Amino acid sequence: MRLSGKKIVLGLTGGVACYKVAELTRALGKEGASVQVVMTQAATQFITPVTMQALSGNVVFTDQWDARIHNNMPHIDLTRDADAIVIAPCSTDFMFKLAHGACNDLLSTLCIARPAHVPLLIAPAMNVEMWQNPATQRNLAQIKADGINVMGPAAGDQACGETGMGRMLEPDQLLTEIIASFQKKTLVGKHVLITAGPTFEPIDPVRGITNLSSGKMGYAIARAAWEAGAEVTLVSGPTALPPPYGVKRINVQTAQQMHDAVMACLNIHMQDVFVAVAAVADWKVANASDQKIKKTSETDTPQLAFVQNPDILALVAARPDAPYCVGFAAESEQLLQYGAAKRIKKNIPLLVGNIGHHTFGQDDNELILFDAQGHKAIERADKQTLASKLIDEIAIRLANNTMR
Ligand code: C5P
Repeated sequence: MRLSGKKIVLGLTGGVACYKVAELTRALGKEGASVQVVMTQAATQFITPVTMQALSGNVVFTDQWDARIHNNMPHIDLTRDADAIVIAPCSTDFMFKLAHGACNDLLSTLCIARPAHVPLLIAPAMNVEMWQNPATQRNLAQIKADGINVMGPAAGDQACGETGMGRMLEPDQLLTEIIASFQKKTLVGKHVLITAGPTFEPIDPVRGITNLSSGKMGYAIARAAWEAGAEVTLVSGPTALPPPYGVKRINVQTAQQMHDAVMACLNIHMQDVFVAVAAVADWKVANASDQKIKKTSETDTPQLAFVQNPDILALVAARPDAPYCVGFAAESEQLLQYGAAKRIKKNIPLLVGNIGHHTFGQDDNELILFDAQGHKAIERADKQTLASKLIDEIAIRLANNTMR
């Protein structure tokens, strides 16, 4: 639960995207947040306060003159212990109000009345023409200049039947943005390149050799780096995982393709950090067949020959423009000894050891970090928590510039 103890004031304004905010409310609750819903009158035309009360577990406020707050000042009371105010969907009209400091209903008044340390996040949702209108764009520029965090919108099909910019982000994307807003921004301006997942080495057009890597750890690290403010590129072998929000994903199959994609990224833009999480096949089939290999008799078996794949991590670490390189090691025994030796052999400043060899596909894990100073453990946790802690460790080392 990544929002434990957080109180979020969730403001709904008028827009058909209100139906998606029902799901966001549940998702925020599942991450441990307590959600206080406030709705404009227009929002109540799209979804009822009853629904939002049932989903948030808290009474819903819609009226500036609501007498249920003891001092009759809900705009003050509702914001004093809030950790964030999220307006989703945020209508064109509400953007106007925010840009001009209007306070003629409860939601706009509480936005103005919020203490300076309470962040305000908005998820605009409107028709493409309304979004592109110069007046909206003027208000958007003012809102951004005032330090309000604007999430989206996205482009695509709209409820009105038109297509273009103005779709509200999906609930899982908004949740990701909200969680990210609470993370330390330790990698702002940094470029982080990550490999993840297994590779697939063909034997023939329909068969191949792969491994059990799920890609979860690499994807969690990509997300954690993005949450820390980095520009993230993820070179991924075949996995069942959706592309992490905010991250550029390049899909590959073989180790050679992964190598080529990584080198192309390094040549296009200098990278500050390279994290090699992928379970890259050490060998590929030398004599892979262009056609499906036929079973010719009951006793015949194909004879496969192997050649070594490029060691992507070692090759990146050997470049003159090498980023800060982080490797992974999944050993089934003697991790402490093998981990320290592997870090030196690959000539990298940081190597991360997985405890045990049953971590593929699991949601939690335990890590040991090996660097020039020795080793230290990051205790067992879910992979996203571990990934955030690892990114903290990388950011500290990067700031200290200990060997790149
Ligand atoms: O040598 P070994 O495969 O045990 O090292 C694992 C580390 O090296 C991981 O970080 C993995 O992503 C990386 N690696 C690589 N290219 C290879 C083999 C491993 O980048 N061909």
